[in-house]
Amino acid sequence: MERILVIGCSGQIGSELTLALRKIYGNENVFATDIKQPPASILESGPFTILDVLDYNNLMHFAIRYKITQVYNLAAVLSGNAEKIPQQAWEINMKALMNTLELSRDTDANKLFWPSSIAVFGPTTPRYNTPQLTVMEPNTVYGISKQAGERWGEYYHKRYGVDFRSLRYPGLISYQTEAGGGTTDYAVEIYFEAIKNKKYTCFLSEDTALPMMFMDDAIKATIDLMEADESKLSLRSSYNVGGMSFTPKDVAASIQKHIPDFQIDYEPDFRQAIADSWPASIDDSVARSDWGLSDKFNLDSMTEVMLTEIRKKLA
Ligand code: SER
Repeated sequence: MERILVIGCSGQIGSELTLALRKIYGNENVFATDIKQPPASILESGPFTILDVLDYNNLMHFAIRYKITQVYNLAAVLSGNAEKIPQQAWEINMKALMNTLELSRDTDANKLFWPSSIAVFGPTTPRYNTPQLTVMEPNTVYGISKQAGERWGEYYHKRYGVDFRSLRYPGLISYQTEAGGGTTDYAVEIYFEAIKNKKYTCFLSEDTALPMMFMDDAIKATIDLMEADESKLSLRSSYNVGGMSFTPKDVAASIQKHIPDFQIDYEPDFRQAIADSWPASIDDSVARSDWGLSDKFNLDSMTEVMLTEIRKKLA
């Protein structure tokens, strides 16, 4: 029987992934943890504990006490925030990963999911249809920590047999919990602002294309990777995940199909340079052929769900 530890259950991914895991593995077998309070849906459906991933002793005692077999480590400082506190962000992101790698090596919690990101790529990477294996010279703190993290994950797999699995998530779009401090977050904010105020000022320029994915597809991809037979995984660094590719102008046009008087203007800030250093689209054929990555949503079908669900949420 699997007993799963989710670290970072109150964040954008964790708040949805925890519920999806509870449906599959049983509420009582998915232990949600974070340093901040989670949404009511998590508190009401199963166990929650305040736990700091940076505190290795506590983390290890927790895993032993609850006989944890799998860990999802979602704790991170995102790209925009990391640029404001480079040293701290590096320490937090790396320490959180190293603690869970050690945990997986030293306890029965051998299977570990850790998200990487399109931020592992940099300005010298081929920008369109970015291959799985290519030039990687990230120039953001967040990207450098993700790239180093991939190397460490693969190292712990080869050297110590840790069952490390990872996806290079594109920008993730969801309506349950807002992200915080990311460069792709405009694509979440824009939907909330469209419903609240019918206008949005975008911090990226209108033609900035980035790879993006709707949260439902990202959760499915994550669980599919974790459930895939080990023999199917040719990579133990991190798999490219492409989703879709669009610009702020494309999202605005998609919203205008439902809200014709929605207005957008553009005031690019420091996050523009981050976005410009990332790929515009991603080749994820290795994940598709290794373990069957698939996705369902395109921009318009995602817009429909986002607008409907945000309306309900704000009503
Ligand atoms: N969505 C993240 C960010 O913008 C990238 O992984 O920071």
